[in-house]
Amino acid sequence: PENETPDFKLFSFQDFNLISGMHFPDEVEQIKNWEIRDSDVFLLSYPKSGTTWMQQILSMIEAKGDITATSNQLISQRVPWIEILHDKEKFTTAASPRLRTSHLPYKLLPRELTKKRGKVIYVARNPKDVLVSYFHFHNFAAMLETPKDFNDFFEKFMEGKVFASNWFEHIKTWYLHRHEMDFLYVTYEEMIQDLRAVVERICCFLGKDLSSSQMDNVVMHCTFESMSKDSSVNQKRVPETFLNHQKGTFMRKGTVGDWKTHFTVAQSERFDRMFQEEMKDVPLRFVWDI
Ligand code: A3P
Repeated sequence: PENETPDFKLFSFQDFNLISGMHFPDEVEQIKNWEIRDSDVFLLSYPKSGTTWMQQILSMIEAKGDITATSNQLISQRVPWIEILHDKEKFTTAASPRLRTSHLPYKLLPRELTKKRGKVIYVARNPKDVLVSYFHFHNFAAMLETPKDFNDFFEKFMEGKVFASNWFEHIKTWYLHRHEMDFLYVTYEEMIQDLRAVVERICCFLGKDLSSSQMDNVVMHCTFESMSKDSSVNQKRVPETFLNHQKGTFMRKGTVGDWKTHFTVAQSERFDRMFQEEMKDVPLRFVWDI
């Protein structure tokens, strides 16, 4: 029956953790061979890094800030996930521009992206806040195993035993291959600090020429407040088989530094050591608190 919860379980596919009942190896395997158009835009991220926020930004830019052009379509239809029931046929026949979202690692994305066809936007967030946001998400997302407590989840995250595997691995691989692609790197913290500047940068990257008032409208519809109220983006319409809305809220807090109310001093120090070690050859640094 349609409303029966599938048997969701983590499984490893080419060393990357996916979820059974939601991701299907045969489909994911095909993605590499998809043909790319110059107008394609792929939004890439590790979970909880501001993916939905960037989906909203991209679709509002496409609509030139006109909310009436977007609000009748769920965000998951405007900027669909490629790893969830999105086969080659559906991709091939879709109208341009094809805006797509993914948490997949570099090695599983269409190879043609590395011929500088299409565009890639990678959104990153400081990983301590990612961990906290992911912890809360695990408490109400039916496809993810409910952690015993924060400590339990902390360990799982550090070991990469979660959907999308290890945070460091994800960001490093994407970042280190950036020169092969038409690639833009954006952080959640920049979006918090100056949303308009980020929207302008994205318009420039995409070659979109919006007027100042169209830009104002894009920014207005991408704030935490307006997205929280908009049922086409706040995920409240996602069925209970996926999100238990009694147990949590997708548009939860939307801040920088919430890790401080969750991490112990020992956890924070351990995380910092791991960050230093893992990122020693990568020039990416984060804002941890505002
Ligand atoms: P919190 O749980 O810290 O509140 P993703 O879409 O990648 O799953 O990320 C979800 C996180 O992005 C949540 O973080 C959510 O609140 C935050 N978010 C979504 N839209 C936002 C916005 N307009 N401004 C700030 N944060 C936003």
